[in-house]
Parts: sequence; structure tokens; C-alpha cells
Amino acid sequence: MKKNISRKTFLNQVSTIGAAAILSPIALQAAPVINNKQNNKKIKVGIIGCGSVSNMYLPHLSKSPYVELVSTCDIKPDRGKSQAEKYKIPNQYDHIDKMIAGAPFDLLVNLTNMQEHYALNKKAIQAGKHVWSEKPLANTYKQGIELLTLSKQKGTRLWGAPAVVNSPQFAFMSKAIQEGRLGKIAGVHGHYGHEGPEWSAFFYEELGGSMPDLAVYNLATITGLIGPVKSVSAMLNVITPTRNTGDKGSIKVVAEDNSMILMEHYSGTLSHVQSGFNYFDPYGHAGKGQDRPTISMWGKEGNMHLIGYDWAPAGVDMATRDHEETQRFVEDAENFQWQEGASVIAECLATGKEPIINVEHSLHVLEIIEAARESQKIGKRVQLQSKFKYPIIA
Ligand SMILES: NC(=O)c1ccc[n+]([C@@H]2O[C@H](COP(=O)([O-])OP(=O)(O)OC[C@H]3O[C@@H](n4cnc5c(N)ncnc54)[C@H](O)[C@@H]3O)[C@@H](O)[C@H]2O)c1
Repeated sequence: MKKNISRKTFLNQVSTIGAAAILSPIALQAAPVINNKQNNKKIKVGIIGCGSVSNMYLPHLSKSPYVELVSTCDIKPDRGKSQAEKYKIPNQYDHIDKMIAGAPFDLLVNLTNMQEHYALNKKAIQAGKHVWSEKPLANTYKQGIELLTLSKQKGTRLWGAPAVVNSPQFAFMSKAIQEGRLGKIAGVHGHYGHEGPEWSAFFYEELGGSMPDLAVYNLATITGLIGPVKSVSAMLNVITPTRNTGDKGSIKVVAEDNSMILMEHYSGTLSHVQSGFNYFDPYGHAGKGQDRPTISMWGKEGNMHLIGYDWAPAGVDMATRDHEETQRFVEDAENFQWQEGASVIAECLATGKEPIINVEHSLHVLEIIEAARESQKIGKRVQLQSKFKYPIIA
């Protein structure tokens, strides 16, 4: 019998992970001050979207010394109210307009449906707020550029999940690559899938799908390690045509739930990411216990494998020409937690440190996802225009 992971089961599983509030120093870099005026004060945070993932964000944010939780907002008002009560947040709203007009805040943390992000992020930026958005920060690359341009005009900052570049495993792999320990890297593979969320229909509706929900992690890690992508070829399809969802019952699946993305990097490396909502995975949605490689790369002088998921890393295996036996490194993820993004950003806004996460990288990943959709549609390779500052960690 098919076993879907319910939202409740998932939350029970992840609650065992715990919520260390002290942020990993690796997530921060000494760099130009973001906003002198805000140095060392608490950042007032408004949370929009009080569904599943808010149960991971709120415990983390509520322990941050740099955060003052000011308001919650959800179009399902009971959700905004119950999270506000649980985390002692003084204001709740049922619409972004009321939230913006209400108690003042500095940073919007957008945890709503993927299809809502662009419009809500835009309203917040227009109102002069900084934004941390769950992925994707917009539905198209063009929309993303529009948001970035607007935020620059308004003097605010914009960032998007995931936070995978903050892990010590990412730092180790990036340094190993930059030191040339693998030689010229020829091929990279990444995979991430499970049986699909069942609590909300938006994951399967237009502009949802497994790419912006799951592949996005591997895409961020692989581009972060190997550098920007020049062109994309992809095949996408739907394996499960109807789904039972918690909010809308039985629905027709419109967005891809199965994707194969092939990328040509400027460095000459060819990489590949596969993801989907139809992968039997004994580790489930929470990923706890995954001890196999999920990202692997091969160069002329060595190979390297990330153990566990990039959002829950458990080590790095490496074999090189001068040490042919595989060795395991960085088994400790220290304080890195995938849900730390908004807390790291609040810390950066408060202290003036520049985070490792940068919006140009998020926009590049968004362009890859859009190019994959286009490639599937036209049956051809699609050229990309965006780039980001590389390497992220040298
Ligand atoms: N659930 C997870 O484990 C998880 C993990 C990482 C990232 N994410 C990402 O987080 C986002 C939310 O996912 P989720 O699983 O929490 O979904 P969810 O359906 O559980 O929660 C989304 C919430 O947003 C609210 N909402 C929708 N439109 C709104 C609007 N216009 N204004 C205010 N509130 C609105 C909904 O009522 C709902 O309560 C997605 O981008 C998803 O990819 C989820």
C-alpha cells in the first residue's frame, strides 16, 4: 500500500531535529555593511504564510537574538492566529495589505504558496520592506529581475531560499574544488525526490512542481559549486495524473512531478539534476537518516560525494589521485539547519554582515527552472542569460 507522509507525521519527525538558535559562523562573511542605521538592533519580522514550513521557521526565528517577531499573516486566519499565540507574536492579519498597514516591520518572511511569492514580495518591497522568500522568490526570471530592480530602487534587500550554501559541507566542497583537488571537473550528478507533499494542492498546480520545490536545492548547490550555467536541456512529465490533497481533495496534476535537467556550465562541466514527487524514499519527506550520496562529481584528479541531502548534509567523501582510498570529511553539520535562512538574514541586517546567500544566485537557479520548462516545451536546448559572482566560497 502506498504510504504518503502526512504534514503531521512530517512535523513530528522534524521536531526531533531540535532547533539550535545559534547561527553557524559559516553562514556569514565579513563584508560591506548592509545598512549602518540598523547596526546591532533587533530586526522586526513579519511572517506571511502560517502553514507547514512555518512550523520549522518560527522555532528558529523565535530563538534568534536578532529577531523581534511582530506579526503573522495568513488568508486562513485561524493559522495566523494559532501561530501568533504559540510564539507570542502580538499582531495577526488575514491580508498582506492589512499587514503592511499595521504594526511596522523591517523584514517580510514569505512562507506562502509558491504561486503567491512574486505578488506578495512585490507589495512588501514597494512598502520599503526587506524580503526573505521561500523558493521560488518569483515565478519567472523576468519577475525576479523586476523584484530585484524594485528593491534596489527602494533601498531594500531581497533574498530567496534555499540556504544550502551555508553548510560546512558546501564550504568544504567549494574549497576543495577551488584548490583544484579534483582537477578539471567533467561531470556532476544530483538527485532529490520523495512521494510528494499531500497537504496542499499548489505543489501540483501550474507553476508548482518538483523543480521549484525539490530540484531547486540541488540546482543551488551544484551551480554554487561549479559556477553559472550556459544552457539547459530538460525532459519533464507527470507520472501521477491525479492526487489527493488536504485542502482541495482530488485534483488533476498540472505541473511536472518528474524532471531530468541537463546543464552545460561555463567551466565546461556537464551536470545533471533529477527530482520528482514519485520517488520511493524510506527517509521520507524529513530526510532523516539519509546516509547515501545525493550529489556526486568526477574530475580528472579526484571524485567527491555529498553524503545525505544538501539541506541535511552528513559528510563529504573524497578520493584523489594522491589518496585513492575514499576518505570521509565534515561529518558534522555544526549549527547549519535548512530553515535558518531568514534568521541568518535578520542577523545580517542587524549586524551589517553580508550573508553568503545572494539574490543573483537565486535568480540564476530560477532561470534554470524556467529554461527547463521551455526546453521540454520546444524539445531543444535553451540558452541562459543570467550569471552570479563565482566562486561563492573560495
Ligand atoms: N513544508 C515544507 O516542508 C517546506 C520545506 C521547505 C520549503 N517549503 C516551501 O515553503 C512554502 C510554503 O510551503 P508549505 O508546505 O508551508 O505550504 P502550506 O500550504 O502548508 O502553507 C502555505 C500557507 O500560506 C497561506 N497563504 C497562501 N496564499 C496566501 C496569501 N496570499 N496571503 C497570506 N497567506 C497565504 C496558506 O493559507 C497556507 O497557510 C513553499 O514555497 C514551499 O516550497 C516548504
